[in-house]
Amino acid sequence: MTGYKGLIERYRERLPVADDARIITLGEGSTPLIRLGNIPEAEDRGIELHAKFEGLNPTGSFKDRGMTMAITQAVSEGSQAVLCASTGNTSASAAAYAARAGLDCYVLIPDGKIAMGKLAQAMIHGSMVIQVEGNFDDGMRLVKQIAAEAPITLVNSVNPYRLQGQKTAAFEIVDELGRPPDFHCLPVGNAGNISAYWTGYCEYAGITTAVSNFLHGQCPYQHDAVTDKPPRMLGYQSSGAAPFLRGGFVEEPETVASAIRIGRPQSWDLAWAASRESEGWFDEFDDAEILAVQGLLAASEGIFCEPASAVSVAGALRDIRTGKIPPGSTVVCTLTGHGLKDPDIAMQQGSAVVKKVSADLDAVKQAILGDR
Ligand code: F0G
Repeated sequence: MTGYKGLIERYRERLPVADDARIITLGEGSTPLIRLGNIPEAEDRGIELHAKFEGLNPTGSFKDRGMTMAITQAVSEGSQAVLCASTGNTSASAAAYAARAGLDCYVLIPDGKIAMGKLAQAMIHGSMVIQVEGNFDDGMRLVKQIAAEAPITLVNSVNPYRLQGQKTAAFEIVDELGRPPDFHCLPVGNAGNISAYWTGYCEYAGITTAVSNFLHGQCPYQHDAVTDKPPRMLGYQSSGAAPFLRGGFVEEPETVASAIRIGRPQSWDLAWAASRESEGWFDEFDDAEILAVQGLLAASEGIFCEPASAVSVAGALRDIRTGKIPPGSTVVCTLTGHGLKDPDIAMQQGSAVVKKVSADLDAVKQAILGDR
């Protein structure tokens, strides 16, 4: 690949990649950190609010960071096939990177419960799509059993190479801001990403954590600390799928944010450790609150993210309003996936103005100028 460095090339000395590995990349990472300057709640309190727009990765979500690592490793190990359960984005990313590597890819998705753009991606990249009559948690249980029995590499975030790749988002944020933010806000589903960010921030700060212990031995790096103190990690969930708020697994998760319709997060312990070690917290939002913030970002900042992603900004705004995030803080929210993934939800939002007119000048003039 010319011109565009993928994240393995950028952060190779901090990643467990064999010297002779064939790197499978689509130029992922290096996503923009966008200052949200049009939100008065933040501006009026002197809060620097940023969005890390991960929807601008090659397949439209943050999953590509983990997938370049997981697929590169699968190729290094001589694997011929990869497998995942998914609410949509993991399957889209696995399908694309597997196609590039020449591996077979099998994805298990909840029947009828994934956004159309994500399904289209898995299909066009040539993976085998298996629609399970059950939810994501059922799919997860099944793929773990299959991977234990068959020579197929599991590329869900229980694969530690996924978290290794995803931690690089924290590096990019610190590299760009010149310091870590005070607070980092994330949507939480399977809970891999919050664990990965915490690892990245701590690695840059030279701190060992429960999460880095989990990854220990993979990456024999010794580096000087780049920063002083990692941020507090704030994890936000959808009320219908909020095991971290309930203190236990949720049997029938339900939410408009289909990406995080998950009741049994695989990285349960790691995410609790990230929250506890960083002195962060979890909170929850209902569907209406999530869609309102998705609409706000689109209409006032020009950023189109998927509903699950908007949960992070919903969380930041509530905590700014209540003062849990104090004035003068620097806050980063990860927008995990692009809004085009889920066009149905966007079209159902009431804010769009569509007028149908005949193809004649007066009618169009009336439509445009009539209410100015
Ligand atoms: N946001 C989006 C857009 C997602 O697709 C996911 C997870 C999350 C947030 C939550 O991240 O699981 O690391 O806590 N999607 C997975 C999938 C489960 O199958 O695509 P997490």
